[in-house]
Amino acid sequence: MDKPNGTGGTGKAGTTRSFKVWRGDESGGELTDYQIQVNEGEVVLDVIHRLQATEAPDLACRWNCKAGKCGSCSMEINGMPRLGCMTRMSTFEETETVTITPLRTFPIIRDLVTDVSFNYEKARETPAFAPPADLAPGEYRMQQVDVERSQEFRKCIECFLCQNTCHVVRDHEENKEAFAGPRYFIRAAELDMHPLDTKSDRKEYAQASQGLGFCNITKCCSEVCPEHIKITDNAIIPMKERVVDRRYDPLVWLGSKIFRRGQSEGDQTPRDPDNLGEVHSVGGGSHDSESEADAERGVHWNRQVPHPTAPSTDSRGRLPISEFTFDRAAAPSPFGDDVTFPLPADGLNYSHPEQKD
Ligand code: SF4
Ligand code: SF4
Ligand code: FES
Repeated sequence: MDKPNGTGGTGKAGTTRSFKVWRGDESGGELTDYQIQVNEGEVVLDVIHRLQATEAPDLACRWNCKAGKCGSCSMEINGMPRLGCMTRMSTFEETETVTITPLRTFPIIRDLVTDVSFNYEKARETPAFAPPADLAPGEYRMQQVDVERSQEFRKCIECFLCQNTCHVVRDHEENKEAFAGPRYFIRAAELDMHPLDTKSDRKEYAQASQGLGFCNITKCCSEVCPEHIKITDNAIIPMKERVVDRRYDPLVWLGSKIFRRGQSEGDQTPRDPDNLGEVHSVGGGSHDSESEADAERGVHWNRQVPHPTAPSTDSRGRLPISEFTFDRAAAPSPFGDDVTFPLPADGLNYSHPEQKD
């Protein structure tokens, strides 16, 4: 346990090291100099805690596990996006000034705390896992090799370091609407590999609605991932390759023309742009003729993605064959359709600066 003066209670005596920590809020801020005791074996988050315990009790910083598993303590240390709890002070020279700043891609709340709602919005937009309708939970069966294929992506701790690093949104606020980011590309890839996911359009969705085409495979996201997920090599590049196969392979193109669903008379009705969000279904499947036409014409990044609508059946209640070859299905969001972000501060079950008391 630390002594009150901030030196370690056991082991080798520490040294006093120089830090610059960004202090401020959304209206502005600056780097503040601190001289802080650092003991052997400590990580950057230890130093921040010592700073809070001594000179700066009001310094805001998120953390939970201190074990590299909750993804809360993301920050930029000497300009590199890292987890504070997994960055050892021995990484730096004793004479080096360590600069700690908040994640640059997201709006500042205070000090080292940023508003990462962008990521939750993108999570909400990502269609959920859609198991076969005739299987109940507990009846799912899949081969071990399929479990292992997507295991890598399920290691994600949602630290959003990859999202923060990606140059597509890092200095380009205007790209955020159209770009979901590497964390959600691995989600799409994971579902694309899942043998029980009945949606066959995950890669098409990534291309048309998640902005996969913005990614120019720089691999910066993979470099900062604390779980060492090969985001670019194992998720993004394979999806890009399959999108290219699907769009430009002449046999696949011919097949899509043969099996493409014809429009019924009802489909010819012009769509009311103010009512795009009014059609919902628990059945899954985006069966929207205008979206199909959009997909045929190519990617339109800012188009409004329609909510899922129920699959159409014939007079005997059977699905047409095109439902099995349709490439633009979507499942309902796991967050529900009526949640808006950011959530109201008063409804949060943790301390938030905007809560009334
Ligand atoms: S590889 Fe793609 S997603 Fe990853 S940082 Fe580069 S542009 Fe962004
Ligand atoms: S993919 Fe890696 S860097 Fe991105 S949120 Fe998940 S754990 Fe963090
Ligand atoms: S405190 Fe949980 S990852 Fe750092």
